[in-house]
Parts: sequence; C-alpha cells; structure tokens
Amino acid sequence: MAMNKVLILYASTTGNTEMMADAMVSYLENRSDEVVSKSFEFDTIDVKELLEYDLVLIGTHSGDDGQIPFEAEHFYDELDDVNLTGRLMGVFGSGETFYDVFCESIELMGDRLEQLGVTLVPHRLKVELEPDKKDIERCEAFAEQALRMIIK
Ligand SMILES: Cc1cc2nc3c(=O)[nH]c(=O)nc-3n(C[C@H](O)[C@H](O)[C@H](O)COP(=O)(O)O)c2cc1C
Repeated sequence: MAMNKVLILYASTTGNTEMMADAMVSYLENRSDEVVSKSFEFDTIDVKELLEYDLVLIGTHSGDDGQIPFEAEHFYDELDDVNLTGRLMGVFGSGETFYDVFCESIELMGDRLEQLGVTLVPHRLKVELEPDKKDIERCEAFAEQALRMIIK
C-alpha cells in the first residue's frame, strides 16, 4: 500500500486538543503512514506546506467567544494565498459546552476551508475538555475516516 503523507496541526493551551492530535498521530503511525505533527504555538507553519500532504488535520481549542486561537490567526488569514481546491482536510478540537458557542473555532476553521474549496472530512470532531478513553477512540475513528477519503 502506498504511504500517505499526513500533516497534523494543532493549537492547544492546556493540552486537551494536543491530546487529541497525539492520539491521531499514534494511530496513523501504527498504520505506517508518514505523519508530521506541528504546533501553531511552537513551530513555523507556512500555508504552502499544506500542498505537500495527502491529508491535513487541523485542531484548535476555542478561546474567548470561540474565536480562532491567536497563534493560528495568521495561518487562518493566509489560507487564501494557496489554491486549496480539492485538498483533503479535517478539523477537530476541544471546547467546553459551558460556553454559548461550543467549539466555535472548529466551525470557523471548517467553514473557511470549505469556502476555499477544501474537501472536508464530514464530521467535525469536538471533544468536551480533556479527552477520555471514549474520546480517544473517536479521535482514532476520525483519523481512520479521513484516511479512507484519500484517493490514490
Ligand atoms: C477564557 C476562555 C474562553 C473560552 N471560550 C470558549 C468558547 O467560547 N467555546 C468553547 O467551546 N470553549 C471555550 N473555552 C474552553 C476551552 O476551549 C477548553 O477549556 C478546551 O478544552 C481548551 O483546549 P486546550 O487544552 O487544547 O487549550 C474557553 C476557555 C477559556 C479559558
């Protein structure tokens, strides 16, 4: 089977979205895919890189009013610098239902990608605070669903 190149990008302040990203990395690595994982906070991320991968999964936490996290704002703004038509991507993250707009940043990111012609994994994966065992399984299922959408 051909190796799929997968990029996982995440923004996480207290580690919940990062735990989701890590679960997907482990799952995909076990499937012997080539997986690169980057943090919006600590790594340099150029939107052009998105074109090098068969699948890109983007995780964001939701901060004030559910906005795009500050550290991912630049990336979000620059997305229209590249042609993303037909690229396969998925969005995920952790939020808290206590807030009026649960996981709103995931919706914002997903909507923007769709407007730019991205083929989105239909399910936008949202987890309440720290992922529990069941949520980790949902992360794995999400990664599996995304993999199956790759057309070779
Ligand atoms: C100041 C503040 C504002 C928040 N606003 C929202 C919100 O609007 N919607 C939401 O779903 N979660 C909101 N949250 C909850 C976080 O998204 C939640 O704690 C999440 O698990 C953090 O993920 P992280 O550990 O990956 O940073 C907010 C948290 C803080 C501290």
